[in-house]
Amino acid sequence: MLLHTATSTLVFLSICVISTNAGNPCCSYPCQNGGVCMPHSNSQYTCDCTGTEFYGQNCETPTLLQRFKLLLRPTPETLHTWLVHNKWLWDIVNSMTFVKDFIMKMVVLIRSNIVDAPPTYTSDHEYITLDAATNLSYFTRALPPVPRECPTPMGVVGPKILPDPKLVAEKLFRRTEFKRDALDSSVLLTFFAQHFTHMFFKTDMKKGPGFTWGGHGVDGSSVYGPDKHTENLLRSFTDGKLKSQMINGEEWPPYVSDAPVKMLYPPSVPKDKQFALGHEFFGLLPGLLAYGAIWLREHNRVCEILKTEHPHWDDEQLFQTTKLIIIGETIKIVIEDYVQHLSNYHFKLFFKPELMFGQSFQYSNRISVEFNHLYHWHPLMPDNFNISGTDYKLRNFMFNTEIPVKHGMRQLVESFSSQHAGKVTFRNHGAGTMHVAVDTIKHGRELRFQSFNQYRKRFRLKPYSSFQELTGETEIAAELESLYEDIEAVEFYVGVIVERHREQSMFGGGMIEIGGPFSVKGLMANPICSPKYWKPSTFGGDVGFNIIKTASLKKLFCKNIDGDCPLVSLKVPQTVSEAQANEKCDSQCSKNEL
Ligand code: HEM
Ligand SMILES: *[C@@H]1O[C@H](CO)[C@@H](O)[C@H](O)[C@H]1NC(C)=O
Ligand SMILES: *[C@@H]1O[C@H](CO)[C@@H](O)[C@H](O)[C@H]1NC(C)=O
Repeated sequence: MLLHTATSTLVFLSICVISTNAGNPCCSYPCQNGGVCMPHSNSQYTCDCTGTEFYGQNCETPTLLQRFKLLLRPTPETLHTWLVHNKWLWDIVNSMTFVKDFIMKMVVLIRSNIVDAPPTYTSDHEYITLDAATNLSYFTRALPPVPRECPTPMGVVGPKILPDPKLVAEKLFRRTEFKRDALDSSVLLTFFAQHFTHMFFKTDMKKGPGFTWGGHGVDGSSVYGPDKHTENLLRSFTDGKLKSQMINGEEWPPYVSDAPVKMLYPPSVPKDKQFALGHEFFGLLPGLLAYGAIWLREHNRVCEILKTEHPHWDDEQLFQTTKLIIIGETIKIVIEDYVQHLSNYHFKLFFKPELMFGQSFQYSNRISVEFNHLYHWHPLMPDNFNISGTDYKLRNFMFNTEIPVKHGMRQLVESFSSQHAGKVTFRNHGAGTMHVAVDTIKHGRELRFQSFNQYRKRFRLKPYSSFQELTGETEIAAELESLYEDIEAVEFYVGVIVERHREQSMFGGGMIEIGGPFSVKGLMANPICSPKYWKPSTFGGDVGFNIIKTASLKKLFCKNIDGDCPLVSLKVPQTVSEAQANEKCDSQCSKNEL
């Protein structure tokens, strides 16, 4: 009895010693180059360097082959510089099918290889679990969470308690004056980004910030709804078409009275003015409604083409085949219009799934929660919206379902194309979305995100060694330092937003090199890109296949608006820019003259 008590006291003591003195040795992230840290009970650890092409206790020594590769491989910064300069060279490359095919294939392979497939981590475990691969409710993780028992939220560095998220947002994020995006991105781009990405960024807050209520890729759910039930409510069950209504001679989505899907409108919007859309949130902004309506029109237009081609097809086949075509058009437009604009590369990106046939490439995708966070591009949003000369404050723009109908699609798209988007950078979050930024920081902490520098390393970027190096200036750098103490403790979302931009770019290196792989993988791993899907018969023959192969953002609007083609541009055209600059100058210049 006595002996028993003695030993149990001993055991108790020794456990205490380990947990108080030793801690988890992996909290300091000793393993380099993607090596996996395994803690042992005696405060020792081992690094598993398997498959990293590095060896040594901390996977710090490259193999001979890897040393050679490192020597030859240009840094991501060098590659970027090449891609945004030397236009004459890229003009030649773009005209040579063989060369451009090779480059496009490498872009897809190199980018998508950085993403784990099958997925490895979730926000609930610091180690690999089978759930990570099988439970689709989880967003996946590129890096596992920081272990709970670590001395600080970032492991061993930085403050024990991170600065108040509200304070961080006030000091670093609140817009002081509207800063324009450097590439002259338009508001049409802003709404494209929001409409497209809300298809798969759907945090399930009932379960927590690490969970999703969406699918894991480009599934058309922003048009067809998140489930079969919603889809059926949106379908007309005639000729494959979706329900719609004519207002002022234009086709618009039905009201919820005709298609009683779940939508989130405030009580101020009368029931008979609530549009029914694929996403419960899309009544939020007229820009989202515009995209919802234009895709609806495109769906119904494609149905008519297929019906002419296959008069004997029933409603179901017309609907299902059109849905596949819409998904194909979406991917085509995202790559060739949207990503092309975002990247600002002189190399012309193109959608050609055949390039991946025969390569080791998996046709499955999982959305990661880091991708979701970095895509919180709220600084893109201006504070007011100029629709054909009427200036709407965000407050009066939100949930205003009269605006699209009143102005019509043509005025909407031309106005959105003519107005500048904001720059995704520090101190450029509009007042209306500050709370979203605060929530994003809070969620990042709840999910125990590793630091921004850890993510830089994970995505093959050099970690920053100073705050000035991160921001490229001194004022925000000083603020950052006072908030985080240590460069290794800067949080992920804060990092991607305040990071110094690359030249000729909308973003910093972190946003591009972390976002790029998820984006490319998500687009090209779609089932329709796989060999058994990607053939004419899947899309109703050559007619349908060609609709995908010739799709563009301009066509999407032009084919679905009566009359002349309106201005459709993700970049504010130079003439508009100049006109507005001159206008500004006029008042200032004349003052100076006086
Ligand atoms: C004025 C326009 C916008 C408003 C009012 C707005 C508002 C919101 C709100 C209220 C949330 C819920 C998040 C929370 O508080 O936890 C959210 C989420 C989000 N927003 Fe925005 N947003 C706007 C524009 C944009 C734009 C242009 C993008 C760019 C792609 C964007 C990307 C996101 C993403 C990725 C999420 C997370 C969605 C999820 O996981 O469920 N938003 N936004
Ligand atoms: C997925 O994981 C969550 C959280 O552990 C759990 O609530 C849910 O039941 C799981 N779903 C499946 C299909 O196992
Ligand atoms: C609003 O747009 C109109 C063109 O529709 C333009 O003439 C006007 O200058 C714009 N106003 C502002 C404040 O940008």
